[in-house]
Amino acid sequence: MIKIGIVGYGTIGKRVADAVLLQDDMQLMGITANSFNYKISLAYKKKIPVFNLKNNINDFKAHGIELAGNINDLIKQSDIIVDCSPKPYGKENKERYYLPLKKKAIFQGGEKKDVADISFVAQCNYNDSIGKDYIRVVSCNTTGLSRTLNALDREFGVVRARATLIRRAADPGDVKKGPLNSIIPSFELPSHHGPDVRTVLYGMEVFTTAVVVPTTLMHMHNLNVVLKKKAEVEEVVNLFKRTERVKVIPKNQKIDSTAQIMEYAKDLHRIRGDIMEICVWEQGIGNYNGELFFPQAVHQEADVIPENIDAIRAAMGFKDAVKSIKKTNNSLGIN
Ligand SMILES: NC(=O)c1ccc[n+]([C@@H]2O[C@H](COP(=O)([O-])OP(=O)(O)OC[C@H]3O[C@@H](n4cnc5c(N)ncnc54)[C@H](OP(=O)(O)O)[C@@H]3O)[C@@H](O)[C@H]2O)c1
Repeated sequence: MIKIGIVGYGTIGKRVADAVLLQDDMQLMGITANSFNYKISLAYKKKIPVFNLKNNINDFKAHGIELAGNINDLIKQSDIIVDCSPKPYGKENKERYYLPLKKKAIFQGGEKKDVADISFVAQCNYNDSIGKDYIRVVSCNTTGLSRTLNALDREFGVVRARATLIRRAADPGDVKKGPLNSIIPSFELPSHHGPDVRTVLYGMEVFTTAVVVPTTLMHMHNLNVVLKKKAEVEEVVNLFKRTERVKVIPKNQKIDSTAQIMEYAKDLHRIRGDIMEICVWEQGIGNYNGELFFPQAVHQEADVIPENIDAIRAAMGFKDAVKSIKKTNNSLGIN
């Protein structure tokens, strides 16, 4: 059993914890709590050991939470840490805790790539990540772009890929962020996502631009890709249908928006109503003048969760990428 500690218990941390609890080769040793909130209270009720990050034991006592120790205790008990803190605290935590205690760690996509030995998307570069001490699971958007572009590259070869990202403003539980009534363009050229894709799809010619819009339900990507080999629409549909962690949203199902995809996930009885696959609309796939066009949606809170599970196995030296991906998918109800 791989013993896992989770540092940071917000949007990503609580989902990684639930995913770890579903693995038969992993044991959740506990989570860290920075400040008291209902999430910590629910974790405690689920009998997940809670370790504190700061010197605020009395805040937790006042809410009936008996702490199991501090962050150093959790790290010492664990074989590996999944750091789910907000950027840039992952880097700080590495220097302050993980390096001195010689502990392996997985970081999230908000951190800069140099926080880790390698950036990670399981189906792209699991094999390169085996045995690494520090792995960064790339961001939700980079994960989304990497899954579909990797499949296209392996099957047809990608000459160049262009993507416009329409980004959700905040997560649904986030009450403090906007915009409320505006569209905010990114003036970075490219936006940071394109260079980030290259950290897992080494050297791919990919260029991205981005805008932020007032929604909490998923990001959307509009892609256009020049392929080495000509691909008919049907071939692309079939490729995405057999690609791990990609879901083709079929035509004529009246699932024509991100809101309907999120409703679909709830109706499928997915955990928390999450959808961990990248959703490509079949009816949006088309060719024009030698370029392939398609739209895809990314559930930002969820697509990186299976990647964290596979990253743990890779870091711990589990050598079979295909087996890890299948095992993770089965445990999380991804099909
Ligand atoms: N949310 C997404 O859509 C998403 C998607 C993919 C990747 N990511 C990445 O995942 C990481 C975490 O994001 P998130 O959205 O889960 O953040 P979040 O919801 O804000 O949760 C962060 C958690 O870390 C705790 N924390 C605060 N400071 C800490 C520190 N110094 N050390 C350890 N824990 C600390 C927070 O406690 P308090 O509540 O007490 O502050 C909270 O429990 C970021 O790198 C982000 O870029 C996020």
